[in-house]
Amino acid sequence: MARRRQLYEGKAKILFEGPEPGTLVQYFKDDATAFNAQKKGTITGKGVLNNRISEFLMTKLAEINIPTHFIRRLNMREQLIKEVEIVPIEVVVRNIAAGSIAQRLGIPEGTRLPRSIVEYYYKNDQLNDPMVGEEHITAFGWATPQDMDDIIHLTLRINDFLTGLFLGVGITLVDFKIEFGRLYENEDMRIVLADEISPDNCRLWDAKTNEKMDKDRFRRDLGKIEEAYQEVARRLGILPEAGARDLKGPETMQ
Ligand code: TMP
Repeated sequence: MARRRQLYEGKAKILFEGPEPGTLVQYFKDDATAFNAQKKGTITGKGVLNNRISEFLMTKLAEINIPTHFIRRLNMREQLIKEVEIVPIEVVVRNIAAGSIAQRLGIPEGTRLPRSIVEYYYKNDQLNDPMVGEEHITAFGWATPQDMDDIIHLTLRINDFLTGLFLGVGITLVDFKIEFGRLYENEDMRIVLADEISPDNCRLWDAKTNEKMDKDRFRRDLGKIEEAYQEVARRLGILPEAGARDLKGPETMQ
């Protein structure tokens, strides 16, 4: 296999040049970080599971006409995606209080919010991803008002759809973080869903017991992390072909 050019390495993924112009290969690592990489670890098999879970969710979202960067999964750890210009904003949707909103506003974790709340964080590790408002985003040109209309509209549809999808398999979608990108095609620019959707960037609780099935198990040292990610995949009906036995998957090819 030819060596591919690595374009970017993030905390949980690596981006390689794709086979055709306008495409990239997104490789999912087992590395996990929390609290802006102050806490580091490895979750064996996480990359394989997140690759599969994100493929599944992006494909389902595409079926309801949410535009995404996803093209197809290539193998256990890699997917082919469209190259986009990432909007430097992390969009967080909260249905139930947990994590930073529970801390910041003193709302007991598990309280259902009066309605879904959308928050924005400026993607900047040096600044620790500060929370910002739409005013900052448009004033500093991180996104235009038109971009923000598309982002908000898509985000609310994604939340409605994923809430129902997860509830159908006995999981409460507490909150999640998504990212968007600008896709340039001919003369046109479209805002599309990018990055990944997986238990790394969602809070997923068992609908009956409220047991945590996401990265909070790593953040809070709750143990049984791999098992939780696997259980999410199992409930979605998509444990990788090889099953739980072979979650290591191939090594990265560079
Ligand atoms: P928070 O409660 O810590 O603000 O997190 C809200 C949601 O966003 C939660 O599902 C985890 C996810 N998230 C990320 O994906 N990346 C991040 O860097 C942070 C802080 C949160």
